[in-house]
Amino acid sequence: MPQRRSAMPTLPAADFLVIGSGVAGLRTAIGLSQAGRVLMLTKGSPAEGSSIYAQGGVAVASEEDDIALHRDDTLRAGKGLCRPEAVQVLVEEGPARVQELIRWGARFDRAGDGYALAREAAHSRHRILRAGGDATGTEMVRVLLNRARSLPQIAWRDHHFTIDLLLDAQGHCVGALELDESSGVVKQVKAKAVVLATGGAGQLYARTTNPPVATGDGMAMAYRAGAIVEDMEFVQFHPTALYLPATPQFLLTEAMRGEGGILRNIKGEAFMKRYHEMAEMAPRDIVSRAIWNEMVATSARHVYLDVTHLATGFIRERFPTIYATCLRYDVDITEEMIPVCPSAHFMMGGVRTDARGATSVPGLFAAGEVACTGVHGANRLASNSLLEGLVFGARAVEAAAEYASGMLPGRGTTVAPDVAAGEAEDDHGDHLDMEKLLNSLRRLMWEKVGIIRSKQGLLSALAQLEKWEERLRDRCRTRRELEVQNMVTVGHLVATAALQREHSLGAHFRSDHPEEFASGWDRHTQLRTEAPGRARVRGAGVKA
Ligand code: FAD
Ligand code: SIN
Repeated sequence: MPQRRSAMPTLPAADFLVIGSGVAGLRTAIGLSQAGRVLMLTKGSPAEGSSIYAQGGVAVASEEDDIALHRDDTLRAGKGLCRPEAVQVLVEEGPARVQELIRWGARFDRAGDGYALAREAAHSRHRILRAGGDATGTEMVRVLLNRARSLPQIAWRDHHFTIDLLLDAQGHCVGALELDESSGVVKQVKAKAVVLATGGAGQLYARTTNPPVATGDGMAMAYRAGAIVEDMEFVQFHPTALYLPATPQFLLTEAMRGEGGILRNIKGEAFMKRYHEMAEMAPRDIVSRAIWNEMVATSARHVYLDVTHLATGFIRERFPTIYATCLRYDVDITEEMIPVCPSAHFMMGGVRTDARGATSVPGLFAAGEVACTGVHGANRLASNSLLEGLVFGARAVEAAAEYASGMLPGRGTTVAPDVAAGEAEDDHGDHLDMEKLLNSLRRLMWEKVGIIRSKQGLLSALAQLEKWEERLRDRCRTRRELEVQNMVTVGHLVATAALQREHSLGAHFRSDHPEEFASGWDRHTQLRTEAPGRARVRGAGVKA
């Protein structure tokens, strides 16, 4: 198929590009609107992302002794791999960010004169604020989206898929390459500074709590741009997602165990006390592996979460979304045990940033799940992620505004990826079945780079991932194809880091090296391409 090069439209430059409209992107855009014109780019509709599905809540300690305990709980869950200064920032600045959200109109659930506070796994205190029982993310996104939409300095382009970052000759980030999904046109957008807030990559796995947009695009494009990605081996598997064949995967919040929910194997035995003294409230990685063991021991594909001993009225009021969703699938959680299985939930690793959101590429900042600020270490403490999005989103504002002051937008010559029209065919003219490839990728990641890993499994996963990378090279042009390519890249990064870490720690478990504190346990795995800016994207639907 011949390729035609075409002139690429360039959108008017903004001062700041924010890519992604979850909690982190929205909070960043709101702050940056004080410093200049912001262009908010997002694939799909503005509310779509993990944030809106967040159930359990947002961890916030308001009293001084609890701030210190929140710090200690976070460090303990992170297994010694957190950056203590980043954790300090999170717990100290968190309360002010949540207060700000309340001033902007957030309605968190109340109990008597104060706020209702829940407890989740590995927290030593009740300190989780929630909204609508189990609909915290919906409320936070509602408030942030309303505020962002009311600000004239923020322009919106939804259904715009960011393909890649634009670099100048010095390797500074100066914008992004966008695919307008409605017209199929590819455009360059220039800005003084770019903030990545593209969320996580749960879609890499056959079982995940994450929505379809969580395809790791930001991690893949930052890697292609030469940014350091860090600690990619640490993927958190949430212990309890609904397991019913032929129904969508759906999270059952940890708060259900916080309120007394019990895990039982298919024989009906409560098993968590055999694994950890905190039983159901043990850290997530321990609960997920315990469930995995029970599934293997009983040859079952799931265990059960049992809340039938709690009062019916309480369950309906405390977990209204979960109650209604399970009922839709014919499970009345007030009367029946719920089949559950662990599922990929959160990326602790990501694009390495400092405590102000700066990545290793000048002009590129990152916030939220796409970033690795160092607050989560080897395992994230429950309900710390929404807080991280707010706190580090606000911090990225300061750093990006400082970087941008005095710069002209759209400066310099850009090294844009090579874009040309073409068909998604391989060298032999075959059409690749992307959905089939994606299913195979998700199965491979689940089986070989999932909850339990080994050197042999990782090596065979890497060999397959390399084959797919080769097949996909220079041929992806639609959003779906580009997403699959990004997922293969991120899968490769996760498997490579998992192979490099030759021992177990937190969420990363190696069956061939179960010991945790082998030599070098405290180093971070860092990966960086040797040829930044050379990523080629071909034929992404450019109109002549
Ligand atoms: P997201 O909210 O995922 O937003 C990412 C944005 O980037 C989206 O707008 C997406 O469309 C856009 N995007 C992605 N790629 C591109 C691209 N190529 N071009 C343009 N736009 C792009 N954490 C807690 O702290 N408490 C909880 O109770 C909690 N519950 C959870 C429940 C569920 C079901 C899930 C999935 C997660 C939960 N988490 C929770 C984790 C938390 O919700 C997420 O880590 C957090 O919301 C991530 O926010 P974010 O802004 O970084 O990303
Ligand atoms: C949950 O509600 O269990 C999810 C909380 C989180 O991921 O922090």
